Amino acid sequence: MNKVGQNILQVFSQKFTTPCKLYFSPGRINFIGEHIDYNDGYVLPAAIDKGIYFALAKNNSSVINIYAADFDEMLSVDCNEIQPISGWKNYVLSILNQFKNLNKNIEGFNCVFSGDIPSGAGLSSSAAVEGGLAFALNDVFNIGLSKFELVQLCQKAEHGYPNVKCGIMDMYANIFGKQNHVLLIDCKINTHEYYQIQLGNYKVVLFNTNVNHSLASGEYNIRRQNCEEGLAILKNELNINSFRDIEDVSMIDSCKTKMRNEVFNCCKYVIEEIWRTKKAAAFLQNNNLTEFGKLMFKTHEGLDKLYNVSCAELNFLVNEVSGNSNVLGARLVGGGFGGCTINIIKDDVVNDIINDVSKKYSKIFNKNLSTYIVNLYNGTNKLM
Ligand code: GLA
Repeated sequence: MNKVGQNILQVFSQKFTTPCKLYFSPGRINFIGEHIDYNDGYVLPAAIDKGIYFALAKNNSSVINIYAADFDEMLSVDCNEIQPISGWKNYVLSILNQFKNLNKNIEGFNCVFSGDIPSGAGLSSSAAVEGGLAFALNDVFNIGLSKFELVQLCQKAEHGYPNVKCGIMDMYANIFGKQNHVLLIDCKINTHEYYQIQLGNYKVVLFNTNVNHSLASGEYNIRRQNCEEGLAILKNELNINSFRDIEDVSMIDSCKTKMRNEVFNCCKYVIEEIWRTKKAAAFLQNNNLTEFGKLMFKTHEGLDKLYNVSCAELNFLVNEVSGNSNVLGARLVGGGFGGCTINIIKDDVVNDIINDVSKKYSKIFNKNLSTYIVNLYNGTNKLM
């Protein structure tokens, strides 16, 4: 357990008198397969060794007390009076509301949580909050939901009070993550396989633009609507049921005049990204990280030019490392509009590259670049 975990136990004992259980809920990265979890695609995420710790115990009353240590804010609410508020509270209240919708009885409890994943950085701190709380409540109140039912509950919760119509990837990786493995999730049928990733002398390094993307949730929902609009036209014109039925992207050219330009571009990106992710998974199976990395760069290009979810800071970070033979792949990770890039970098030059890019970044954008070397880790679990 790291310092955050130890600290949280101490905070819990200062705030409350009951003994508690402790859980860890990870953030996630995604190697490839972006914005296609809600389009019947494949995704290749992994849980990471940065996340959120939850200390939690029943308190034998009807009052729920949740203390967000990182914000120094307490939420106290009667378990029969759950309704939306705002900010981080909406994420936890929406989880409680979902248990209620399933007629699962959650009574009063005390909870403290704190983490080391930056929020709004594309590492899915929201799924870590939702997954950690749902997992802990399922355990403490003996609710008996399966792992996949927890994933579904968390996705519904994010669609609920926060009103982000996300796909299933983040909560799936949060709950099902496995140390040193990536998950290949088939988001059409919601099944997964684990692939061991042999990074050898390469490291996964995240560059955080420190451009917060959380305000962009409206834009996220707009991308989703664009895809729905485009798919409805493609279904009519091409007699297909899903983006997955389109094997060759040129098949949609004949529909171009029937769609708004941005809708056409979104569809084109989705079809290409589904193809790229399948290919990337095959490269990963053959341990061909070089070709795998090239596809990551291509994904970034698509996210920028077609899907329109990148920004100047993200493009700068990807451009800086492209063409560097020590960097196999780089692209924006997560929803976009800010947040992090994910990079696969040769370990003996990681520090040099970080120093070089950081200097240039702060000079050009007048902001600091934060960087993290991450390891692939287990999904949400109970520590004690
Ligand atoms: C956010 C959403 C996910 C996924 C990614 C983009 O993280 O929560 O469901 O759509 O964006 O791939």
